[in-house]
Amino acid sequence: MDIISTKEMLLDAKKNKYAVPAFNIHNLETFQAVLDGAWEMKSPVIIATTPGTIDYAGLDYLVAIAKTGAKRYNIPLALHLDHCGSIDFLQECIMAGYKSVMIDASLEGYDDNIKITQRVVNFAREYNVSVEAELGRVGGVEDDRKISERDVLLTDPDVALEFVKITGVDSLAIAIGTAHGVYKDEPKLDFERLDIINNLVDVPLVLHGASGVPDESVKKAVKKGICKVNIATELKIPFGNAIRRFFDENPEDNDPRHYLTPAKNVLKEVVVKKIQVCGSANRA
Ligand code: 13P
Repeated sequence: MDIISTKEMLLDAKKNKYAVPAFNIHNLETFQAVLDGAWEMKSPVIIATTPGTIDYAGLDYLVAIAKTGAKRYNIPLALHLDHCGSIDFLQECIMAGYKSVMIDASLEGYDDNIKITQRVVNFAREYNVSVEAELGRVGGVEDDRKISERDVLLTDPDVALEFVKITGVDSLAIAIGTAHGVYKDEPKLDFERLDIINNLVDVPLVLHGASGVPDESVKKAVKKGICKVNIATELKIPFGNAIRRFFDENPEDNDPRHYLTPAKNVLKEVVVKKIQVCGSANRA
C-alpha cells in the first residue's frame, strides 16, 4: 500500500462510528512504535507531523519513512501535515508527497480563515489531497502556536455549517473544550455543542488536544461524531520518561539502541490503548 489521503478513511469512520487516531511523531523511532501498535491492532492510522517536526526531521525523510511503513505493514496509513499556517509550506508538503493537510487559519478573522482555506482546498483538489481546517480556536501549546485560555473560541455550530459549505473542506477541527498539551484540571467537553455541530455539518469532525482527556470522554465524543482523534503529548511524556528512567538505571550506557528501545515499547503501549479508545481496531 502507498500512503493515502484521510478522506476515505474518515468517511468510513463516520459511517461506522469509530475514530481514526492521529499520532504526532518526531523521528524514526516514534514512527516505528506507532506503526507497530497500529499493525498489531489492525487499525488505520494517521501519522501527524507539524511544520516544526518537518523542519526538525526533514520533509523528504518523513515522506520516505511513511511510504516505507505503508508498504511494509500494509495497513491504511496517511501522512498528515498538522496545524500549518503557511500556504507555501503546505504546498511544498503536497509536492513532496503528503496526501493529507491541515490548514490552520483559526488565528485569522473568520473571512480570512475562509479565503485561506478556500485557496488550499482548490490547490489540494488537483493532487487528490484531503484538507482539514479549524473553526473556533483550540487552546494550549502545539509547536510555536500558543493559545491562552482567554483566546479560546468554542466553535459556533451555525458558523461551522456555513464554513464547511463555503470552503469545501473534507474534515473540520472543532473547539469543544479540549486544549493542546498538559491540562491543569480535567477537561470538560461541551458534548451538547458537539451534538449540534454533528447534526448540522456532514464532514467528519476532528478532536484536537486529546491527550489527558479521560477515555470515557473520548469514547463519548466518538459516539457523538468525532472521526479523528489527535494525540501528541501523551506519546511524548512516556517516551521521554522511559529514556530518563533508563539513564537513571544505566548511567554509563550510551547506546541509542539500548535507551530508545524501552521508549519505543512504552509509546507502542499508549498507541494500542488509544486505538482501543477510538474503536479503530480491526478496521484496517
Ligand atoms: P495533544 O498534545 O494535547 O495530544 O494534542 C495533539 C493535537 O491536537 C495535535 O494537533
